[in-house]
Amino acid sequence: MPDTADGPYDPFAMIRATTGPELHAALQGVRDAGGAIGFVPTMGALHHGHASLIETARRQCEAVVVSIFVNPRQFGPGEDFTNYPRPIEADLALCSDLDVDVAFVPTVEVMYPAGSETVVRVPELSRHLCGAARQGHFDGVATVVARLFGLVRPHRAYFGEKDHQQLKIIERMTGDLAIGVDIVPCPTVRESDGLAVSSRNAYLGNSERKQAASLHSAMMSALTAVRSGERSVTLLVDMIRREITAAGPCDIDYISIVDSETLADIDTIGGHARICLAVRIGSARLIDNVAVDAPDASG
Ligand code: PAJ
Repeated sequence: MPDTADGPYDPFAMIRATTGPELHAALQGVRDAGGAIGFVPTMGALHHGHASLIETARRQCEAVVVSIFVNPRQFGPGEDFTNYPRPIEADLALCSDLDVDVAFVPTVEVMYPAGSETVVRVPELSRHLCGAARQGHFDGVATVVARLFGLVRPHRAYFGEKDHQQLKIIERMTGDLAIGVDIVPCPTVRESDGLAVSSRNAYLGNSERKQAASLHSAMMSALTAVRSGERSVTLLVDMIRREITAAGPCDIDYISIVDSETLADIDTIGGHARICLAVRIGSARLIDNVAVDAPDASG
């Protein structure tokens, strides 16, 4: 077997691609053979949540591509773009352990070449929830994912329900533009106390970390109340707010109960509803959501 500059040739070694042509070359074989390409877009700082997406893709596809790109266009002024963790060597090691075929780690110039100006906007879904406080955030997400889809040309792409609004926006964009990628939603991975795993949990101090479990437990209390017959969104939101604020100092961006598909506010539990919240604890802005299945919910 031929040796490469990096050591002995290993046909199973993960390929690291930085540019579009490198990516295409790495995927040509599987594409020619008609194999399904699964894609997991990430911003790195990989954790169990990302790993579960990668494992699902691995089970369902012949080839798995993971992108690692901290996308400047989805961070607003004063947000954590500069401080966002970038442990690239650990990320690549995890991808390799999870049997990823290609890690795509583009530069800003590869993602946004000089002269590129197109913005992908999904205005109605983007104006709710996180979109209200983070102007332009979802334009940045939709634009980068559209370009990543164009570069990777996957058959399936895997997104976490942890970012429910993002998932809905990507589903809508993919349908509206007939992009022809199957979007596969993946359940939220949680720590043992219920806190949704997130790269931003690293910003929490010890007591803040304990306090952060209140986000999930408050939503669970609301689900229990729904099961006992409570249907008033105002009362349920109030209950969640009280439980979270009782746990310690925090800044609540929003606590909303919305229609799971349109993300519009609802007054009464029924149909497909979702509790969604964003709460700042210390310097971490944490988001989470759960489905509300009212026993009498239609469909
Ligand atoms: P990032 O925050 O790195 O998340 C990458 C993917 O992992 C997203 O689909 C997200 O929903 C999923 N994910 C994160 N935490 C999870 C958890 N605890 N359980 C299940 N899935 C989880 O989301 C982004 O990056 C970016 O916006 C991106 C789509 C890559 C565009 O830049």
